[in-house]
Order: sequence, then C-alpha cells, then structure tokens
Amino acid sequence: MWSLKKLLYRLAHLLMGFMVKRLEVPIPELLQGVGSVKQLPEAIKSTGVSRLLLVTDQGITSLGLPDGLIEALRSAGMASVVFDGVQPNPTIDNIEAGLKVYNDEQCDGIIAFGGGSVMDCAKMIGARATNPDKSVLDMRGGFKIKNALPPLFAVPTTAGTGSECTLAAVVSNPAEREKFSVASLEIVPTHAVLDPELMLGLPPHITAHTGMDALTHAVESYIGTLVTPFTEENSEKAVKIIFEDLESVYQNGADEQKRSNLAYASYCAGLAFTRALVGYVHAIAHNLGGLYGVPHGLANAIVLPYILEFSKEDCRDRLARLAVVGGLGDSNDSAQVLADRFIEKVKEMNRNMDVPSQVAELKEEDISFIAKRALSEGNPGYPVPTLMNQSQCEAILRHMLPR
Ligand SMILES: NC(=O)c1ccc[n+]([C@@H]2O[C@H](COP(=O)([O-])OP(=O)(O)OC[C@H]3O[C@@H](n4cnc5c(N)ncnc54)[C@H](O)[C@@H]3O)[C@@H](O)[C@H]2O)c1
Ligand SMILES: [Fe+2]
Repeated sequence: MWSLKKLLYRLAHLLMGFMVKRLEVPIPELLQGVGSVKQLPEAIKSTGVSRLLLVTDQGITSLGLPDGLIEALRSAGMASVVFDGVQPNPTIDNIEAGLKVYNDEQCDGIIAFGGGSVMDCAKMIGARATNPDKSVLDMRGGFKIKNALPPLFAVPTTAGTGSECTLAAVVSNPAEREKFSVASLEIVPTHAVLDPELMLGLPPHITAHTGMDALTHAVESYIGTLVTPFTEENSEKAVKIIFEDLESVYQNGADEQKRSNLAYASYCAGLAFTRALVGYVHAIAHNLGGLYGVPHGLANAIVLPYILEFSKEDCRDRLARLAVVGGLGDSNDSAQVLADRFIEKVKEMNRNMDVPSQVAELKEEDISFIAKRALSEGNPGYPVPTLMNQSQCEAILRHMLPR
C-alpha cells in the first residue's frame, strides 16, 4: 500500500515539476543597502500610488522603526495610514481588520513593514481588497486569486522568511488551530527593500530563529526534486552567507555589513524556495505553529536536523555539495563524510544559538494528529527527497517531546 502511494506521490511531483518550471514568477524590484528604505518614496511615486496602508505590528511601532519612512513619504507628498494589528502567525481576523482600514481610508497601495507575519498579512489584505468576493479561506491553496493586488512594497525587518519575494502567504486559522498557505503569482510584492539598518535591533533569539528559517528554505529547496540551476545558485548563496555570518550576528547584532548579508541571504533563499518549494520541515513546523503557536523559525530550526537525518541517504550528494559551498570540506572528502558534517553543522549552530532540540509544547497525545496534518500538507505537496509515512513521522515527532 505504502509503495503504491509513494509511486502516486512521485507521479504528482513529476506533474508539479512540469507545471512549476513553466511558471514565470515575477521578481520584485530591489532596493538594497544601508538607508535604502529612504529611496522607497520615490519608487512608490513612480507607480502613481498616493495613499498607502502601512501594515506592521506593535513590536515594530513601539520601536519607532517606520517613523523615518512615514516622514519621508510625507515629504514626498504621499499620505500613509498605519495598521499595526498583525500578530505573529497572522490570523484571518488580522487580515480582515487591516482590510477595513484599507477600505475606510481609501488607500491605493500597501507597504508591508515587518517580518514574515506582517508581509503575509499585507499580501492578504491586498488580495482581499481587489478580490472582495473571495474570503481568505476561498483563497487557500494554489492560484485562486484572480485580480492583481494594489501595488505592494515589502520592507522586511527580519532575515527571514523571504516573503518579500515569494508567491506565498501563510495564514493562521485559530478556529481549526491550523496554518495554511495561499500561493499565487499575484501576491509577489512589486518592490522589496533590504535595509540592514532596520534589523540592527532584532533580538538575538529572533535573529537566530529567522536565520534558521532562511537556511531551511535554502536547504529544503536544494534537496527537493524541483531544483533548477536558478534555485540551486540562490540556495548556495544563502547557505554560504548564513554559515558565515548568522552565529556572529547572533552575538553582535549591530554589525551592519553582516546584517546586510543575511538580509540578502534570506531574499536569495526566498527566490529559491518559491520556485522549488520546501519539504517536511515546513510541513511539521506549520503544524507546530498552528497548534501551539511555536514561532515559525524556531520550529524549523528544531525540526531541520531530524528531517535531514531521515532523508540523508537520498540526498547525500546534495548535502555534500552544500557542505563544500559552506566551507566544511572539499572534493577530497567523501560525500558521506560531507553530508554528515553538514547535518552536524546545523546542530552545532542550533546549540550555539540556544535553539533546543525538543519542542517544549509538544504532547504525546497530539503526535498522531500533527503527523497526519503534516503529511497531508507534505504528501504530495512537497517534492521531498525521501517520502515519509505516518508511523515514520510520528517516530520523528516523538524525538522532539520535551524530556
Ligand atoms: N510567505 C512566505 O513565503 C513565508 C515564508 C516563511 C515563513 N512565513 C511566515 O512568516 C511568519 C514568521 O515571520 P518572521 O519569522 O519574520 O517573524 P514575525 O514577523 O512573526 O516577527 C517576530 C517578532 O519579531 C519582531 N520584530 C520584527 N522585526 C523586528 C526588528 N527589526 N526589531 C525588533 N523586533 C522585530 C516582531 O514585532 C515580532 O514580535 C510565519 O507566520 C511564517 O509562517 C512566510
Ligand atoms: Fe519558512
């Protein structure tokens, strides 16, 4: 039975590959470097937008991070209205509340100023604004959004989800204690701003978790079966930078150059995974987020080594190549040794950045349910190197129970 299912999943992946490789995913116009957010008003002006909804969260407004941009918009003759009601793992209600402000204030463009939660919420506010006949739940899944969004300008303040260049938005549905994805070419932002100055005060634990999320994007898209030369190149850039700089930025968050490198790594990893997709690490992480509210990056960081161990026989050469890219050896070392070093490096990074190897909230009685949901997301949704069944997934989750 499992053999037959595996065959069907692989056929589905072939079909997915055929379709995904033909998709022309837009690439946002990029503004990059220290102070680049100040160039955004000019870019916005060129699109003809004059009244912007600035979507963010209260953590960010309390730090005053968007103040400079709001002032620059005003100087350039554009009005902006702030909506800072986005929660981590943004909910359908957050989207609806933002949409109300967008409509009440008669906005014609959106700035997403924050981490992945803010960017995803902003994408969905835009999608609802121009597709009012469809609810957020109607847009769940792939390619359900018909009308183009209002111009959407993404300013990530974490590095990160890569949401500034992806065709995805991840939404929490508290009613079902689940997270789901919306994927559509329409929700790729028109512009992305990578300004390291906005990330200098990101606390160490968020730096670590969001950096490991970016690493997971780079790795899962690299070992999956939909990899292309374009995604491969972007994953490699991301892994190299993250291996070189993440732990050091965890120690010293004020390093502007390294913050800038990490923002670019996150963007590159986004370019890769939005084309070659992710895998079981994300399938499990989404469910830990949906059920317990575990932050997305933390969940990925914990799950990544377990899934790499599970899959390594089927992606040994790929991991070996990434190990060489990441400076862990050279072609004189065997693929087996290099792949093991790669996994060990991920575990070591976690240890050095105080990422646990267990999920504090996980309960034995939830394991079967989490595995079921994760596999319904991952099979055949993600083009993974090694297919996983229910009992294998449960066994992996059991290793993550708090000790
Ligand atoms: N759309 C996609 O392609 C994609 C990809 C991966 C993850 N995601 C989603 O993104 C969400 C996670 O996003 P995230 O990891 O960026 O975290 P987040 O957006 O939830 O932010 C986490 C916390 O960091 C704070 N913060 C953000 N920037 C800060 C800064 N510069 N200084 C100080 N504090 C700051 C926020 O206030 C918040 O409290 C999840 O819902 C996840 O599922 C989406
Ligand atoms: Fe992610």
